[in-house]
Amino acid sequence: TVNPPGVHRGLAGVVVDTTAVSTVIQETNSLTYRGYPVQELAAHRSFEEVAYLLRYGELPDAGQLREFETRERALRPLGRTTAELLTRLPSTCHPMDVLRTAVSLFGAEDPTEDDGSPAANRAKSLTLLAKLPVVVAADHRRRRGLDPILPDPALGLAENFFHMCFGAVPEPEVVRCFEISLILYAEHSFNASTFTARVVTSTLSDLYSAVTAAIGALKGPLHGGANEAVMHMLREIGDPGRAAEWLDGALAARRKIMGFGHRVYKHGDSRVPLMQEATDRLVARTGDPEAVRLAALHTALRHAVLDRKGIHPNLDYPAGLAYHLMGFDTPAFTPIFVMSRVTGWTAHITEQLDHNALIRPLGAYNGPDQRPVPMAV
Ligand code: SDX
Repeated sequence: TVNPPGVHRGLAGVVVDTTAVSTVIQETNSLTYRGYPVQELAAHRSFEEVAYLLRYGELPDAGQLREFETRERALRPLGRTTAELLTRLPSTCHPMDVLRTAVSLFGAEDPTEDDGSPAANRAKSLTLLAKLPVVVAADHRRRRGLDPILPDPALGLAENFFHMCFGAVPEPEVVRCFEISLILYAEHSFNASTFTARVVTSTLSDLYSAVTAAIGALKGPLHGGANEAVMHMLREIGDPGRAAEWLDGALAARRKIMGFGHRVYKHGDSRVPLMQEATDRLVARTGDPEAVRLAALHTALRHAVLDRKGIHPNLDYPAGLAYHLMGFDTPAFTPIFVMSRVTGWTAHITEQLDHNALIRPLGAYNGPDQRPVPMAV
């Protein structure tokens, strides 16, 4: 597609504002959150510490972390109205629609909904960080015909999510792989869903409206919905030996290969190596033949795409396989992305308000020239 002069379709390459939350350093192909390399954060810190960092700009000391964790855990239980209304949704309702509805309900029942002060927005952000996993886990069980399991305040965010989904906390290595995915998914500068949140915030609308809109944007398979689509694609291919043949057919049909390519990273997504290593460890520890076969297919397809299109996997590619191996149902994959990215979204919402300008670009008109309205027939 050739753009008319001055038109930047998809805002590709357009810098629309400054941000201090995160940056992709093209030269080293690395990503930093508030200046800290995400790979180091994922290797040595908890998701709660990274959520605190994105929110306040600095890593917490022991006392600050304890206070943050205590407040987050106390906010987990859903209000009765919300919990009851969510069970009224059709069980066929996609979990992203359940999540989008839940955030709207949180806004509807929050008396401070329209208070956009930094303190009020920080409180709302913590509410979402605490409650979104409870909604995702309850829906995961509802789709299986099971009652929800209440959150356990004795458990950290990652462990508690497994507890609420499966009634048990898996081995520390599995929890760590999950926590690494949450840290890697947390923030990524002006991606489509974050920019959506900033656009809504720029009109001085409320935080719940901005997050609801961001969830809508993240649902799309060109964005967060890709991790779910990766699993559907692997199931469609079925056998590692069919990867190359399937890919040729898909490319001939001009299909997008889910979990590959990126608007910003053109030489590989900096988050993939760490997520892939964690996923490989998951496969090695399970030793389950089905997991080993899936991993072989996952590897075969990655090599085939690189050979034929020179396109690298993005974070959704290893994350999708990892979530399947952890036992989550495919439709829960993007909601897990939301549980994490809500930290980045709310950091950007705060930043947008710090130096707000209404986001209102122009369009290059290419419709009919002005013409008189014909007299009524
Ligand atoms: C996320 O922005 C972020 O930071 C997002 C994210 C985050 O953390 O927030 O990183 C999370 O959304 C990752 C992306 C997940 N989406 C997918 O995996 C869906 C498949 N990917 C593609 O749709 C695509 O790669 C995009 C949308 C991600 C990026 O597309 P661009 O930047 O608009 O690039 P493009 O489509 O112009 O591609 C350039 C060329 C094209 O070839 P031509 O048509 O010019 O011949 O590469 C081709 C594309 O067809 N191409 C692909 C491809 N990605 C690019 N061809 C097949 N499969 C792909 N995946």
